[in-house]
Amino acid sequence: MSTESEVYLNGQFLPLADARISVLDRGFLFADGVYEVIPAYGGKLFRLQQHIDRLNNSLNAIRMQAVMTDQEWANVLTKLTQSHTQSDQSVYVQVTRGSGNNRDHQLPVDYTPTIFAMCQTLPSSSLDFIAKGIKAITLDDIRWDWCHIKSIALLGNILLKQQASDQHCTEAILLRDGFATEGSASNLFIVKNKQLITPPKSHHLLPGITRDLVLELSLKEGIQCAEAEISEKQLFDADEIWLTSSTKEIMPVIELNRQAVGSGQPGPLWQQMSACYSDFKNQLRHPS
Ligand code: PDD
Repeated sequence: MSTESEVYLNGQFLPLADARISVLDRGFLFADGVYEVIPAYGGKLFRLQQHIDRLNNSLNAIRMQAVMTDQEWANVLTKLTQSHTQSDQSVYVQVTRGSGNNRDHQLPVDYTPTIFAMCQTLPSSSLDFIAKGIKAITLDDIRWDWCHIKSIALLGNILLKQQASDQHCTEAILLRDGFATEGSASNLFIVKNKQLITPPKSHHLLPGITRDLVLELSLKEGIQCAEAEISEKQLFDADEIWLTSSTKEIMPVIELNRQAVGSGQPGPLWQQMSACYSDFKNQLRHPS
């Protein structure tokens, strides 16, 4: 991991090696916490308000209060990213329910949250690799039923992604009751007859910030777009498949379960949307 300079922990900026939390932290013991991953381009945070709103929704869903005001978050995260104007970054933010005096399943009435944030460099080589098209497999979604919460309990996601990796694939597309929901770390879009389709928001997928932006950009571009369930059959009949996330942007899937998707190359609508996404990012770097 390339982590430079200082991290933020509970009100302090300090070197990563000096950042310490208790082994009784409920994040460590129970994965009792939530997180965000926010890209920063040229030192500028991408869709910050949307990420803060989702963080607060996740906190609320696990019965925690907002831990900072929007302005306080903006101050902390801007301070972390301002020394990284030369390279793109992903900012990792984690909030847990803090630590008690012992290990107890019961939610504490009083607690002091643990608040942590750090920057990691987003290598441009990873986007170059993705632009060539990635391979994916389908797997049954073995995760819990509250996938709309950005929970730090990611073992399900990690084991699913590893199964994809074992088969030399980048991502796993997850199926629940015969419908495709999302990737193990990404949201799902298909293209059929020039129409873009993505599953509607529900408890079975994360309300992705990149997903929302792709929907917004498709409207601007005049691309027809629908939020509708995607059956397993529709997935395999798709002309194009895309997977989106803050760190990987829009990944064109060119092979699914060893079969070519469409022409077996990143499709024309992906080319259009990917260019549009890059323009949007560059606007943030160099506002006109
Ligand atoms: N994950 N669905 C899941 C399960 C995810 O883990 C992610 C992103 C997404 C896409 O959300 P967004 O567009 O807001 O990044 C969808 C992040 C990047 C991660 O865990 O590192």
